[in-house]
Amino acid sequence: MAATAAAAGELVYNPFAFTVHDDPYAAYRRLREEAPAYWNPELRFWALSRFDDVLEAFRDYETFSSAGGIALESRRPIDGDRPSEQQMMIELDPPEHTAMRKLVSRVFTVQRVAQMEDEIRRIVNGYIDSVIEAGRADLVADISGSFPMDVISAVLGIPEADRPALAEHADRVLVRADGSMSIPPEAAEGMFGLLGYFMEDLKRRRTAEGEGLISDLLGLEVDGRALTEPELLGFCVLFVIAGHETTTKLVANAVELLSRHPDQRAALLADPALFPHAMEEVMRFHNSTQYMHRTLTRDVTRHGRAMGAGDSVLLLIGAANHDHREFGPDAEAFDIHRRPDRHLGFGYGTHFCLGAALARMEGRVALEEIHRRMPDYRVDHDNKVRFHSSNVTGWTSLPVAFTPGPRLAA
Ligand code: HEM
Repeated sequence: MAATAAAAGELVYNPFAFTVHDDPYAAYRRLREEAPAYWNPELRFWALSRFDDVLEAFRDYETFSSAGGIALESRRPIDGDRPSEQQMMIELDPPEHTAMRKLVSRVFTVQRVAQMEDEIRRIVNGYIDSVIEAGRADLVADISGSFPMDVISAVLGIPEADRPALAEHADRVLVRADGSMSIPPEAAEGMFGLLGYFMEDLKRRRTAEGEGLISDLLGLEVDGRALTEPELLGFCVLFVIAGHETTTKLVANAVELLSRHPDQRAALLADPALFPHAMEEVMRFHNSTQYMHRTLTRDVTRHGRAMGAGDSVLLLIGAANHDHREFGPDAEAFDIHRRPDRHLGFGYGTHFCLGAALARMEGRVALEEIHRRMPDYRVDHDNKVRFHSSNVTGWTSLPVAFTPGPRLAA
């Protein structure tokens, strides 16, 4: 079977196909209109693509369970064994999820995030300083690919020296081969790298004073007991991957998009109050997270199709966010002046992104500083390199040139 969604002819949607990554929206358009409850017989999954269907599935966690995994390639039966090495709350349903989410919300607070703005700005400017005199950079390698790991590491209490290696592991975890659902050795090595690091880190923290959220978690109890090692590792891995990968990709997606919409970029430069809206529109229009996987706990029917208990369902965030039924006739246009009531970029309901406030702040601050210090950046579109994963969209390399400027730091 062709690993693509062809522009015409048979509709085949394969989230692992590199051609789909080049333009998932062509496939999404056809899915919404021609097959709103789409079945892929080869990879054995359903896909929901209309806004209302995706929203309703996010809401109905009793039917659309997270316990079978949230990525298609790591799905497993919901009544089977859980991974023994780490357990993430993103893969739990209520009531277990509720207890874990409550617990982490006690240490990952709104105040903790609000206090980070100056620190985030300092970190971003440090990376811009390293390229500003040269007048050229790889936006990903030099700026957007690094700073979110620094930020989430500052939250977790990970020493500066350890951060580049962690970022490298995290980047590898999501890499996938063209058209293939299997997890390549490189990705497995990335996960082992992360787990190995945090096993040692937890050992150190148990015997000596540590700082940050990880050490806070070590002192907390859930249902009258301490967190287990797999639960602690689950938090560490989830925070590092969720906190680093999606934000990294989102900032480069924003710069790439704005470089192709010079009028909107000019509007941003003229009115800095638009930065938060621009960030929000990038999340709606071209989010770094394209889908979440769910497993059905009972038989349901959608758009006349019978979907069975145990089946996999992809909730296509990227498709839902382009649905004209929700966003109007120009839903497929990028417009930073848009003020949608809601979008699904951070999911919805029980698992709504815990880091949404942090991600919004990181994205806004990075865009503000990039546009303040290198406002005339030009993206070398011929040499940009796409990142290939199943549900995370972004760039591996985004070369830019700009008028050189002075460093801020001495
Ligand atoms: C632009 C950046 C981000 C995007 C697009 C994003 C997207 C998402 C989405 C769609 C979900 C829902 C998952 C589901 O329903 O299964 C989610 C959950 C989550 N995100 Fe984010 N995220 C971002 C940044 C962050 C950051 C910076 C953190 C760091 C703290 C974070 C931590 C989490 C956690 C812990 C969950 C699981 C929540 C739960 O299970 O209750 N995310 N994110």
